[in-house]
Amino acid sequence: MITKMGNKIGEGGCSEIFEWENANQIIKLARDNTDYHAMKQEYDNSRMAWENGLSVPQPIALVDMEGRPGIVFERIYGETMMERFVKKAMERGDEEEASTEHGEYNDIRLTAQVLSEIHNKPGLRMPSQREAIKNSINSVDYLSKDEKAAVISLLEDLPVKNQLCHGDPNPRNMLLRNGKAVVIDWMNASIGNPEADLAEYIIMFRYAILPDYYPKEITSHLDSNREAIINAFVEEYTRLAGITSNEIDAWIAPIAARKLSADGISEEEKILLIHEIRRRLQEQKD
Ligand SMILES: Nc1ncnc2c1ncn2[C@@H]1O[C@H](COP(=O)(O)OP(=O)(O)OP(=O)(O)O)[C@@H](O)[C@H]1O
Ligand SMILES: [Mg+2]
Repeated sequence: MITKMGNKIGEGGCSEIFEWENANQIIKLARDNTDYHAMKQEYDNSRMAWENGLSVPQPIALVDMEGRPGIVFERIYGETMMERFVKKAMERGDEEEASTEHGEYNDIRLTAQVLSEIHNKPGLRMPSQREAIKNSINSVDYLSKDEKAAVISLLEDLPVKNQLCHGDPNPRNMLLRNGKAVVIDWMNASIGNPEADLAEYIIMFRYAILPDYYPKEITSHLDSNREAIINAFVEEYTRLAGITSNEIDAWIAPIAARKLSADGISEEEKILLIHEIRRRLQEQKD
């Protein structure tokens, strides 16, 4: 099998991505932190999304490479939304806020569009989102027992929906191909409330702290555009699928608490999330 593997073309927190067999395929190989069960879940979720006509790479096979679980996928030729963001930020320099007149937020709108397509795809079976969020919140060390209980109680009061959700809609999980967003990384897909995906996206753009290896232009560009990006995203999603900013807002505390269980973000970013959660819990009490 080894001979089929080519150059490494990407990586994420739980995998490495290599060329595979022919130019139209890649293999996603799990890191040590990710087991067969998780890869099988991603394979099954991807298969269901693909068979239902969503904009995703075709999953080809679940494989074992000398004990390392992997998935062979169709290769998507296109840049990730993150790569595009970085490129644009470098072109612009760090001074000004991006102008909507120049289509600056097109990628953000394409992201809202593809998410609304996912959320409105009926009849798919996947694990329960609410249970998964509760389990993640309970696993967090950064909040007290009482704080976790208070956040979970906020979550339990939110209206229940049964829609397909992606679970990790960040700009590294979307590639642009022929003017359309293609969504990868379906490991955390579930059935539940679209507001959870939307809150995840908003929290990320509001609080993300980029790793030090990004040039300072990128950080400044992000800092001067955070809220404008969020507004463009919500505006487009509301136009397409009706959910409003206020409805999403109720999900910020639970999703920020869930995010504290992620291993891919810095301590500094986690402190921002903790402040936001505590501020919201305090507001509730007052
Ligand atoms: N089918 C594909 N075609 C082309 N590039 C891909 C494909 N799948 C993944 N990649 C590249 O590899 C990177 C990592 O992929 P992916 O998000 O699936 O990994 P991950 O380890 O699950 O990530 P995370 O850090 O979100 O857990 C992507 O950002 C993308 O650049
Ligand atoms: Mg990813």
